[in-house]
Amino acid sequence: MEKNGRIRGGKDSLYVALGTITGVILGFMIGISLPNLDKTTEQFRFYSNAKGNYGGQNKSSGNPKNSSSTKINVPENPRGAETLPPAIIQPETDFYLRRLWGKPNEDLKYKQKYLVAFTVGAKQKQSIDASVKKFSSNFTILLFHYDNRASEWDEFEWSKRAIHVSVRKQAKWWYAKRFLHPDIVASYEYIFLWDEDLGLQHFNAEEYIKLVRKHGLEISQPALETKGYLSWKMTQRQPGKDIHRYVKERDGWCSDPHLPPCAGFVEIMAPVFSRKAWRCAWYLIQNDLVHGWGLDLSLQSCVEPAHEKIGVVDSQWVVHKMLPTLGNEGSSNDGRQPWVAVRERCFNEWSIFKSRMKEAKIKYYKENGIIIEANSTLNKN
Ligand SMILES: *[C@@H]1O[C@H](CO)[C@@H](O)[C@H](O)[C@H]1NC(C)=O
Ligand SMILES: *[C@@H]1O[C@H](CO)[C@@H](O)[C@H](O)[C@H]1NC(C)=O
Ligand SMILES: *[C@@H]1O[C@H](CO)[C@@H](O)[C@H](O)[C@H]1NC(C)=O
Ligand SMILES: *[C@@H]1O[C@H](CO)[C@@H](O)[C@H](O)[C@H]1NC(C)=O
Repeated sequence: MEKNGRIRGGKDSLYVALGTITGVILGFMIGISLPNLDKTTEQFRFYSNAKGNYGGQNKSSGNPKNSSSTKINVPENPRGAETLPPAIIQPETDFYLRRLWGKPNEDLKYKQKYLVAFTVGAKQKQSIDASVKKFSSNFTILLFHYDNRASEWDEFEWSKRAIHVSVRKQAKWWYAKRFLHPDIVASYEYIFLWDEDLGLQHFNAEEYIKLVRKHGLEISQPALETKGYLSWKMTQRQPGKDIHRYVKERDGWCSDPHLPPCAGFVEIMAPVFSRKAWRCAWYLIQNDLVHGWGLDLSLQSCVEPAHEKIGVVDSQWVVHKMLPTLGNEGSSNDGRQPWVAVRERCFNEWSIFKSRMKEAKIKYYKENGIIIEANSTLNKN
């Protein structure tokens, strides 16, 4: 829309610039993600006696210390930044594009409030172009290119104000873990993390946000319609409703009507997170489990109560197009179709994730002297 983000010298320079932005973001993430992990654990462990426990300092003491030393040491700062005066520290950032000239405080005419990230290949360019138009100017558009063809998107005007991250043959959750750290996307109230094979003819993002806000949904997805097979009843559109939070699944599928896949559940295909829910969900993403299978069944651990704050929006729905996408980017070394090997890994990741989650819970309960009465607690995903 505005030309601010552009650099003289044409489109190649633009991508160099975006590459640099990416590099900076990545560097920033490496710098801040570790201390945060650490901090979270610490806060958790020492929750009750954390204050005043750091090196015996008392920050809130009103009397200025009479010290000849001007050395700064603030243990509460992000890890590694203890020697900085706290007021200079910027622990969070954003994807807002700035100019290379003029006054910094005049760079941004407005700040987008929402983020939509699509994982795309240039084959789906036309479909994504149509989808992007369903998102207002309140959205920052972020494209993860798995085919390394980012420059081909320049034909679209909106592409010039989008953030392009190009890394070959990676999956949505791989990108999300690396480029959407909660401190990186802290400016955005809602985060859409979507696949590319969705038809958005019955969808409007602003209307969608109004609904999730109204119903207090921290994690949601638009209802699905498809000519193909739907894995879960939960995501199927219920015509005439605004939203739904519960479904009746097939007999024996739900140990409890408040639990997945009957409630507290959306799929990994088109999830939408509130800022708060994303701050938890990001930590749940495993670095090596790139397809994210099983993650959806565990998202309930991030919001309380999950059966109230997770839901599906029926009146703004999408069509699952079942197009050949990243699934076809696999590699077959034994003569099988590439998608077969990808699918196999998906299922394998799912079972790895399930057992990791289960073991992590057992560890926690053991360390905290909590007696688990029934195994069902552990099998809740
Ligand atoms: C820290 O400051 C608070 C408020 O001024 C005071 O009540 C408290 O006694 C102080 N603690 C120490 C250890 O100095
Ligand atoms: C502060 O330090 C100076 C110089 O060392 C000293 O003269 C002064 O008495 C000290 N003031 C207090 C309140 O300790
Ligand atoms: C952007 O958000 C504001 C506040 O929610 C709203 O008033 C405005 O209509 C939105 N812009 C568009 C283009 O929908
Ligand atoms: C719990 O699971 C273990 C092994 O997974 C099994 O041996 C045990 O009988 C189960 N207990 C209950 C109460 O189901």
